[in-house]
Amino acid sequence: MLLLFTLLLTCILLTCSHGFNLDINHPIVYEDPLKGVGRRGSYFGFSVLLHSGPKPWIQIGAPRGNDTKLYPGVIEPGVVFRCPIAESCYALKFDTSENKKEYGKGKLKYREQKNAAWIGGAMDIQEEQGNIVVCGHRWRNTYERNTVDFMLGVCYCSKIEQNGTTAKGTYKLLPLLNSDKYTTSVNRQHIPNYAVGQAGISVHIPPPEVCKCEIHMFLIMDNMWQKLE
Ligand SMILES: *[C@@H]1O[C@H](CO)[C@@H](O)[C@H](O)[C@H]1NC(C)=O
Ligand SMILES: *[C@@H]1O[C@H](CO)[C@@H](O)[C@H](O)[C@H]1NC(C)=O
Repeated sequence: MLLLFTLLLTCILLTCSHGFNLDINHPIVYEDPLKGVGRRGSYFGFSVLLHSGPKPWIQIGAPRGNDTKLYPGVIEPGVVFRCPIAESCYALKFDTSENKKEYGKGKLKYREQKNAAWIGGAMDIQEEQGNIVVCGHRWRNTYERNTVDFMLGVCYCSKIEQNGTTAKGTYKLLPLLNSDKYTTSVNRQHIPNYAVGQAGISVHIPPPEVCKCEIHMFLIMDNMWQKLE
């Protein structure tokens, strides 16, 4: 019986698996362009994606990276590099507004806070539609009437063919930007709802046959954090 079961399991595993060879003799090594004496690690390589085609490249996230040229005055927003195969890497530009920039009007006015946003913590590519998405799930915003920041998370969407050195044509997605839903009432108590939702902690663009333009993002709701702790 055990033998039969083992044979069956082996057959299933064999039909489901694909071979994949790594060329260990001729590796192409990309080193962290932000590496420097006395600096703490940028987590270069935390996320990675590959674009095949006539001009292939890989894109490498360094979610704790500093880039004072791209983001003056911002501490560790996260930096994403594009590296043509066997060439050197360059940093991609998304939304490079200075820290604490104001958006919205009146009661809805908020300032964004990109320190430690973890941009490049998660990313995905969809070759058929030519879309790329890069997220920073620790992106925060602050309203004047609140003393706390909301950790809503941000994602940036762009096209594969786009020259990543300008932010032109990049869309900024803030799926949890809805001040009516930051908290919810449970037993007459306000508890966080979207407030610490961290959209974009992981991200996936489904293939076109599943959905035309939707991006699935994993959200961590604050009440779930409490349950986990
Ligand atoms: C980023 O810059 C800040 C301020 O200069 C520094 O304290 C921090 O160690 C740097 N982080 C990395 C990952 O280089
Ligand atoms: C992107 O465009 C700029 C200006 O048009 C150019 O200088 C740069 O070399 C281009 N970068 C890439 C990677 O194509």
